[in-house]
Amino acid sequence: MNIAIYPGSFDPVTNGHLDIIKRSSKIFDKVIVAVARNPNKTPMFTIQERVNFLERVVKSIPNVEVDHFEGLLVDYVKEKNAIVIIKGLRAISDFEYEFQMALMNRKLDKSIETLFMMTSYKYSYLSSSMVKEIGKLGGCIGELVPAEILEDVQTKLINV
Ligand code: COA
Repeated sequence: MNIAIYPGSFDPVTNGHLDIIKRSSKIFDKVIVAVARNPNKTPMFTIQERVNFLERVVKSIPNVEVDHFEGLLVDYVKEKNAIVIIKGLRAISDFEYEFQMALMNRKLDKSIETLFMMTSYKYSYLSSSMVKEIGKLGGCIGELVPAEILEDVQTKLINV
């Protein structure tokens, strides 16, 4: 079975992430969306909230699972018997950092490949930080996050 891991902070999951999840689920037997505890970021949503949002959003895609992890991504990938890390590329500005991470992960474990998927054009401007900023200021995030979680995301952002 070809298993792929799609890692990220997903703080919160956006329509851009969902686009990558749907497209990668057509390529691999199983895709595990893995929410990272990233010590370099201070998340707005708890790990449980981020996992819960993702679970609701991928409910109708049978070969997608949601999980969370701590520690090195390559160790998690091995633990799950996966072969590929999926990353979404939105713009050239993403490239340098993603390239560095992909090479570092390869250095840490040669058997694991990183596969980059180009984000759909209509989501190329989107990021979780932008969703949070717009939501906190009372702007409309209706086209930015999946409908299933829109109300919960909006409510939390307005009340922080
Ligand atoms: N659509 C919309 N937004 C997208 C996107 C897409 N397709 N792809 C990425 N983004 C956004 C994210 O929302 C995020 O936005 P933000 O910075 O505003 O929150 C940004 O792009 C970066 O996302 P991502 O690439 O998922 O980075 P991340 O910081 O969320 O997660 C990890 C990075 C978790 C994969 C990485 O830190 C990791 O591997 N950690 C484990 C520890 C480890 O092994 N470290 C060594 C790595 S070499």
